[in-house]
Amino acid sequence: MNSESRRIWLTGASSGIGAALAELLLKAGHRLALSARRPGPLRALADRYPQQVLLVPGDLGDAEQVRDIGERIASRWGALDTLLLNAGTCEYVDARTFEAAMIERVMRVNLFAAGYCIETALPLLRRGWQPHLVGVGSSVTYLALPRAEAYGASKAGLRYLLEALRIDLADEGIDVTLVSPGFVDTPLTRQNDFPMPMRWPVQRAAAHIASRLDQRPLEIAFPRPFIAALRLLAHLPGRLQLAIGRRMARRATTPTERP
Ligand SMILES: NC(=O)c1ccc[n+]([C@@H]2O[C@H](COP(=O)([O-])OP(=O)(O)OC[C@H]3O[C@@H](n4cnc5c(N)ncnc54)[C@H](OP(=O)(O)O)[C@@H]3O)[C@@H](O)[C@H]2O)c1
Repeated sequence: MNSESRRIWLTGASSGIGAALAELLLKAGHRLALSARRPGPLRALADRYPQQVLLVPGDLGDAEQVRDIGERIASRWGALDTLLLNAGTCEYVDARTFEAAMIERVMRVNLFAAGYCIETALPLLRRGWQPHLVGVGSSVTYLALPRAEAYGASKAGLRYLLEALRIDLADEGIDVTLVSPGFVDTPLTRQNDFPMPMRWPVQRAAAHIASRLDQRPLEIAFPRPFIAALRLLAHLPGRLQLAIGRRMARRATTPTERP
């Protein structure tokens, strides 16, 4: 196994960024173990790249299913070179009817599932070639945004998890990269009813991520001006951030902006 053809477990490969990434990585000659709950889109990729695709569908929020997936990868490949944690979900909080169960749902997919996958993948990565752990977080972690309580908390948790793990895995030679996208046009964001500045087409986002994976940066954050704006806002005094956030929240609930 050389660095040109890697054994990659990609989660959330049935749509959006994951599906676009799968296509690019398969074209580049890598071998992919593909996970998502819907097997149909994964099978379509396996039909087109039968020699390169290992189908490992399942609900990644279920620890037992993740362990089964890990056993299938272990028995077919024996090792993993890259774990690419991309599966994710988003639900927006309505503070008037705050629902703890929703926080749990979002945390399960965006944070706990990452934990299950990492637990399963680490022994395989330790046997892999120049192992690389990659997680798709979000630019939401730079700044608290209205209605993003559940999503933002889950992605902030993922950021911390990966950044701390990066330190602890460094001696073993396992690199950790965090991906922090701004808005990307996918089924996930098509549900949004608020303005999404600087939104990228999904192909552009996937190409941007894929082209940087080899360099193993600590973070792949894009689009650059959007990230710069969020970082700048995050440095404002707390009261000012609150005032801006309240203004955004009011705009988001203006009836004329709803479809
Ligand atoms: N789009 C954006 O603007 C944006 C911005 C920042 C970060 N992100 C992050 O980028 C990642 C990809 O998002 P996307 O925009 O491409 O969304 P998407 O099109 O909705 O794709 C999400 C993927 O995750 C999978 N998934 C969801 N729940 C799962 C579960 N319980 N078990 C297994 N797979 C599951 C979905 O497959 P199934 O439904 O078949 O299970 C799907 O393949 C997410 O982590 C998201 O938070 C997106």
